[in-house]
Amino acid sequence: MTPELPMVTPAQNLPEKVRIHEVGPRDGLQNEKSTVPTEVKAEFIHRLAEAGLTTIEATSFVHPKWVPQLADAETLFPALQDLKGVHLPVLVPNERGLTRALSLGASRLAVFAAATESFAKANLNRTVAESLAMFEPVVARAKEGGAHVRGYLSMCFGDPWEGAVPVRQVVAAATALMDLGCDELSLGDTIGVATPGHVTALLTALNEAGVATPRIGVHFHDTYGQALANTLAALQHGVTTVDASAGGLGGCPYAKSATGNLATEDLVWMLRGLGIETGVDLDRLSATSAWMAARLGRPSPSRTVRALTHQEQ
Ligand code: HMG
Ligand code: MG
Repeated sequence: MTPELPMVTPAQNLPEKVRIHEVGPRDGLQNEKSTVPTEVKAEFIHRLAEAGLTTIEATSFVHPKWVPQLADAETLFPALQDLKGVHLPVLVPNERGLTRALSLGASRLAVFAAATESFAKANLNRTVAESLAMFEPVVARAKEGGAHVRGYLSMCFGDPWEGAVPVRQVVAAATALMDLGCDELSLGDTIGVATPGHVTALLTALNEAGVATPRIGVHFHDTYGQALANTLAALQHGVTTVDASAGGLGGCPYAKSATGNLATEDLVWMLRGLGIETGVDLDRLSATSAWMAARLGRPSPSRTVRALTHQEQ
């Protein structure tokens, strides 16, 4: 990377620091058709940590038939225990998943709810209310054991089956999820249909409903190229936790129109230009994503990775 680029030019009303919640190894890989060997996943996560990422979502303790790519969670998670000072959150849908995760020493857990009935059914085989009931003992037990619990909420900005999702419906699901005792809420734009004004409107409505901005993270997929614009709107609202996926890997196996998440490199490029600290070494991160893209046999969709590693378009 040319050392003086991007030129650092701060803008008004933005946080000084952003915590990147890296989801590449989980959200990025969960949809890959061919099985990625456990050693490759472990190396990927180690390389992400070496690039300076401090929260790296490692895997999911879900039913292996539902997400076959992550069926190796029991082998992968112990292979990461040498990583000191790095949070390794994992997804758990139910008590069975929680028991599996806790038995391996996981201390950062995430449950994942939906704002729409269609996605709750497709992703969890439950209604919204049934899935919240499934999470209740999970969050309670996790909190009793001192774990940090993130609550994901999917389809916050639109749903592939139901279309528009009213803000009040999202707020109702989000507050119900937070009332279970989650420490943090991640707003999922699962199919990437959000636009910046919508982001501000939802954040404002959540604040009015009692969910404070410091507890909210944003999780944008980049289907329509809006993820960075949406992120900037969230930062201007005061959000400081941003989910992103190295190299823009990703998609959701239970939402056909979902593409990759906001690429971590694209996010870091923008934050660097704005003078916002992330602690990430962009060259090392891009090299890691190019390496992973070679393992997967196709170029990274991240513009920044392509620019910095001169990959073929
Ligand atoms: P189900 O079929 O209703 O399960 O699936 P069940 O509760 O009826 O149990 C059936 C069998 O599965 C039982 O075995 C259970 O023990 C077993 P049997 O007694 O018949 O032999 N079982 C399990 N085995 C291992 N681990 C478990 C587990 N749970 C049950 N944890 C279930 C319900 C929730 C399990 C299923 O729907 C599931 O695993 N779903 C996961 C889907 C998923 O991982 N989706 C992707 C993550 S969400 C996402 O990507 C969105 C996000 O990125 C944000 C955004 O972008 O919006 C987070
Ligand atoms: Mg996602």
